[in-house]
Amino acid sequence: MSLAIAVLLSGNGSNLQAIIDAIQRNEIDVTIKIVISDRLDAKGLERAKKANIATTFIEPAKYQSRLQFDEALSDILDRHKIQLTVLAGFMRILSDPFVSSRLGKLINIHPSLLPKYKGLNTHQRAIDAGETEHGASVHFVTPKIDDGPVILQASVSIVKNDNSEQLKQKVHQVEHVIYPKVLDWISKARIELKNNRVFFDGEVIDNENRSFTV
Ligand code: GRF
Repeated sequence: MSLAIAVLLSGNGSNLQAIIDAIQRNEIDVTIKIVISDRLDAKGLERAKKANIATTFIEPAKYQSRLQFDEALSDILDRHKIQLTVLAGFMRILSDPFVSSRLGKLINIHPSLLPKYKGLNTHQRAIDAGETEHGASVHFVTPKIDDGPVILQASVSIVKNDNSEQLKQKVHQVEHVIYPKVLDWISKARIELKNNRVFFDGEVIDNENRSFTV
């Protein structure tokens, strides 16, 4: 049976688009039940509507606390019988109870080669540090931000005079490859989180043997 996912986003939604495209090309057996945003003007909502996917805007200002927002979010996910929640540029921090109740069923994509460059502004920080490599990581979400076990990474080269916008574009290209790939694995039950470690086909993996260069 197709894996039922929700995609959460706050902005452009190019990763959502990559997932929609992979589904439409029959490359992955995944159904996006709903796209949820905390911003009404997120371009990702338009992309979802164009693909006839249900959308919901949850307005943060309506909730008195993060916990209440996350409860509303949980209700929506439960109502749609979501098996995997996919963060794709969702700019809100999720509360510990929300994350803890969905361990192994909540993933994120982060624009760096984790554990390097957690947080924001990763591209400029990598350039400023004189890195020759940068990239993206898909990881399980755990209560500590950008800290959960990595499932798959892809790297790109930083060449002389790359600015952060150019680097961001390069990283986006690889993000659009690895996020659908991970969804494919999860839909086939090839990936599992156990004791804070990632298992692939029943064997524990580390970052080195699950990364590739594009
Ligand atoms: C991506 O770079 C992702 O790594 C980060 O947010 C960005 C979302 O981009 N978490 P888009 O909205 O999917 O284009």
